[in-house]
Amino acid sequence: MKALVLVGGLGTRLYPLTYHVPKAMVPMVNVPFAERMVRYLTRFGVDEIIFSVCYLPDPIREHFEKHNTGAVKFHYVFEEKPLDTAGAIKNAERLLDGTFFVLNGDIFVDINLHDVMDFHRQRGAKITIALTPVDDPTAYGVVETDDTGRIRRFLEKPRWDQVTTNHINAGIYVFEEEVLARIPPNRPYSVERALYPHALEEGVPMFGFVSSDYWIDIGTHQKYLRAHRDTLRGCIKVEIPGEQIRDGVWVGADSHIAEGATIEPPVVIGRGCQIATGARLGPFAVLGDEVSVDKDACVAESVLWRGTRVGEGARLRECILGRSCVVQPGTRVETLTAFEDNSTV
Ligand code: GTP
Repeated sequence: MKALVLVGGLGTRLYPLTYHVPKAMVPMVNVPFAERMVRYLTRFGVDEIIFSVCYLPDPIREHFEKHNTGAVKFHYVFEEKPLDTAGAIKNAERLLDGTFFVLNGDIFVDINLHDVMDFHRQRGAKITIALTPVDDPTAYGVVETDDTGRIRRFLEKPRWDQVTTNHINAGIYVFEEEVLARIPPNRPYSVERALYPHALEEGVPMFGFVSSDYWIDIGTHQKYLRAHRDTLRGCIKVEIPGEQIRDGVWVGADSHIAEGATIEPPVVIGRGCQIATGARLGPFAVLGDEVSVDKDACVAESVLWRGTRVGEGARLRECILGRSCVVQPGTRVETLTAFEDNSTV
């Protein structure tokens, strides 16, 4: 089974984190996001993955060249200029055939893809869109379906008095090859704003598969942190790297936690980290490899990528720090803030 994963977007809402790292490669609890996506897809029998890349393509390809176990065949399709979601799918046409999955590359999800595919086949659909319920549909495009799951209407950002459903597009699709003929080549074209509404108007059988399984897109700082928190709480069953030394505390090889440091679970510590005496970690602190937290510094509700140093007495809450940052002694950052790689804070 083939899956096309769209990872070419700029990820502007994650700036400055995505200045140097594509959104698909930001770490999600110390594993590159695209690696988690590949593990998810292979659980459902996907053995050929096509990455549709544009912005910062190299880190993605380099990662899978280095870490390919051979169980999955990888392809990369490049765009000179962003072609938007449907344009990117069209651009990969030569590698696509039969029935295949298409996924946004920034969703962290546990939706059962076997169920999505069975539903698609049973309905004789040409396009199936996985749908997920949200609390506030007014911020999204909602998708109305009838009793059989057939899509009746797309509604962008409805007002509360227009809300008839809270089901939104989850960014997981099943396509029949013939749908590709509906996308114009070599120009930007959107699935949500062009392909789907036009296909609906023209009577193409399109169905929505509703799932309440875990789903979040990691496209904003807030949601990126929330995805970490959810993982540490066990809302989504994914591997957490390191040894679980006690309930809710994972520690990587060669890390040292001094006596007199306080760890309030859940906390994840990468490899080769140094936690000094008097330091306080947690709850919900995730440290990448080779992070050091000096004496009396506190890190809570935060994600620190590898190589960062938190100076003596500093306090971080709701922070996301890119690679190799330096937090100067005594610094306090206690509202949602993200720093690019190599920042001095
Ligand atoms: P923002 O700039 O923060 O809105 O993020 P984004 O560029 O990733 O856009 P969005 O979240 O809407 O994209 C959803 C998914 O589609 C992401 O996985 C993107 O990488 C991908 N995507 C968006 N636009 C393109 C594109 O032009 N080409 C390709 N190949 N992928 C895209």
